Amino acid sequence: MESKPEIKLGLEGVYFTESEICKVDGINGKLYYYGYSIETLAENSNFEETCFLLLNGRLPDESELSAFRKTLASERELPAEIVSVIRASARTANAMDLLRSTFSMLSLYDKDANDNSEEANMRKSIRFMSKIASITAAIGSFRQGREYVKPDSSMGHVENFLYMLNGKKPMAEEVKILDLMFLLHAEHSSNASTFSGIVTASTLSDLHSSITSAIGTLKGPLHGGADEAALHMMHAIGSPENTEAYINDALAGKKKIMGFGHRVYKTYDPRARIIKRRLEELRGSADEEVKNLTNIALAAEKLMIDKLGASHGIWPNVDFFSGPVYTDLGIPDYLFTPMFAVSRVPGWCAHIMQYWKSNRLVRPLEYYNGEIDRKYVPIEGR
Ligand code: CMC
Repeated sequence: MESKPEIKLGLEGVYFTESEICKVDGINGKLYYYGYSIETLAENSNFEETCFLLLNGRLPDESELSAFRKTLASERELPAEIVSVIRASARTANAMDLLRSTFSMLSLYDKDANDNSEEANMRKSIRFMSKIASITAAIGSFRQGREYVKPDSSMGHVENFLYMLNGKKPMAEEVKILDLMFLLHAEHSSNASTFSGIVTASTLSDLHSSITSAIGTLKGPLHGGADEAALHMMHAIGSPENTEAYINDALAGKKKIMGFGHRVYKTYDPRARIIKRRLEELRGSADEEVKNLTNIALAAEKLMIDKLGASHGIWPNVDFFSGPVYTDLGIPDYLFTPMFAVSRVPGWCAHIMQYWKSNRLVRPLEYYNGEIDRKYVPIEGR
């Protein structure tokens, strides 16, 4: 009888490949994209430049960045059929389901769909960044009862996203904040959605299929879906004074507090630290709802750190503070996870293209613990 191997549930602690794209230092709470710390990029860079970095492994010079932005702008238009599907879908449809379905449909209209050359994959990666933003904005404008707003190629990536979503040119400050949020979400090593994209890619399937797999994986509340779930919890708490009783009850009932904890970070997630700075500014917001959510979030953070921070290694992650920040920007909760996908596309594509350079089929083992050689009993005898 074979002896039972060690089983790593959830592949916890297992290295499956090497990469220089991203380092997540879970002990010291540090994150690097191609060696640049997230704090350095947040302070000095922007989402478009960071996308170039993730796809090319280096920062662009001025003319490269300008060409990259032009290509992004030229790829924003959606096939009319996809806009029609969004508009024909049930208003109650889950926004991530709609994003996953319509993103998948893009392959039907893409002449590069089944070209797996490096050049075609780079073209598709840039195209995906533009089109997933347009799809997400179209879902949002449809849900809010507005007409589809055609993209404006004179605008930057984030500015155009907000323009397509709301039908009006956003303020520079709004663009700056959302650009930072996109940059912070652009990449995170071998997280579940990136791994899922790589699993699909490793069969030598195509980039559309791989990113569709990643979108489906991101949806779950243990991953990208936590941002929306965290905001729902803040709404359920209702006021800062209720926070302690709510958290105590939830923990006593063994419920997880969404937006806390991480498989790799056993300390404060550096992205959450950066978003928290924005949240602290929102304490003085003129909008009562935003101010209330902000105070609930800050009260919950303090309580959770006191209870589970140092003792259990459960700290705020990137998804905890996003809700009040997005609410302040007027973004509805059902778009939080789709926007996570919009910002994660460069990271997904960068990893998949890199994995293909030395591709090996991902095919782990499962230990069989059932019976063998069971006797087949015909149906009438069971
Ligand atoms: N609230 C309360 N308890 C928690 C939490 C939490 N958010 N997270 C972990 N724990 C407890 C958990 O109950 C378990 O306790 P015990 O040992 O007594 O059973 C212990 O900590 C270990 O938790 P785990 O779920 O086995 O550990 P993991 O490595 O699988 O955790 C996690 C990672 C993200 C799945 C988990 O922390 C979690 O479910 N957090 C809430 C969902 C969330 O915020 N997800 C976003 C992750 S970061 C961004 C992203 O990927 O999108």
